[in-house]
Amino acid sequence: MKDPWSAVAPGYLEHWVPRFRPFLLEAVDALAARPLGPGPLAVPGCGPGEEVLALRRRLPDREVVAMDPSRPMLELLRARVAGDPRVRVVEGAAEDLPAHVAGAGALSCFTLQLLERPLDALTAWARALAPGAPLVVLFWPRQPPDSAWGRLRPAIEAEAGAWRDDWEPGTRAGLGGRGLALIDDRPVRAPMRHPSPEAAWDRLVDAGSLQGLARRVAPDVLARCRARWLADHRLTLDPAGAGAGDDHGSWVHTPEARLWVLRSEGSG
Ligand SMILES: C[S@@+](CC[C@H](N)C(=O)[O-])C[C@H]1O[C@@H](n2cnc3c(N)ncnc32)[C@H](O)[C@@H]1O
Repeated sequence: MKDPWSAVAPGYLEHWVPRFRPFLLEAVDALAARPLGPGPLAVPGCGPGEEVLALRRRLPDREVVAMDPSRPMLELLRARVAGDPRVRVVEGAAEDLPAHVAGAGALSCFTLQLLERPLDALTAWARALAPGAPLVVLFWPRQPPDSAWGRLRPAIEAEAGAWRDDWEPGTRAGLGGRGLALIDDRPVRAPMRHPSPEAAWDRLVDAGSLQGLARRVAPDVLARCRARWLADHRLTLDPAGAGAGDDHGSWVHTPEARLWVLRSEGSG
């Protein structure tokens, strides 16, 4: 499979979705807390659709238009929402959400940071909405350099060259020019646990966001990135957590996602 997200779809659902759930639920709450006009809700970049299921539970009367470019991701979603007539599944890139498809609001989780032109995607998502409707966006910003995920960048850059620039400040600065008002902007933090540091790296590669890197560089380069990160991973061993209702592992960190709530000030 040439698309990395399609290749990792089942592993992403099994490994990462349970770990991302606390973040996704906070984003769903943020959308549900806004005044919502009539019409469906859109979920661009839905992947296997954990947030789609959560939205359906939270707002049972709403239709949800769920969109993703990856067929394997959408197959997982279809199986999870089988028989729910209020979920419409659409194949398409996140930026291609059709204008005016979702009157009431939109929610996009952990997709913005993957896109080439995040500001264009936000503008397209806002165009899908009725004027004034909320657009809730959860994404992974650049992580603090002394954190477990913050150590990924230097480990990878030392072996594989420069990673992507920090797109967030430019995107934030451009919102006003696209008629988008940022009405809430806050971090979302939750502890995340892994069985071992090795598993934490390996699942990023075989089930997550480092699959793209794995396809771009030679295996020996990838192995050296892994060794560098493992030498300075900053995960903390906390055996007490396992068995206390969290069986995801004993190695813990607290990554920081960012939640934006935007409102389109234009004509929609
Ligand atoms: C990290 S997953 C997030 C899935 C889900 N929203 C969640 O939070 O669990 C990123 C998703 O973005 C999708 N995606 C949408 N548009 C994309 C694009 N233009 N380029 C890359 N990935 C895109 C991928 O197919 C993948 O399902």
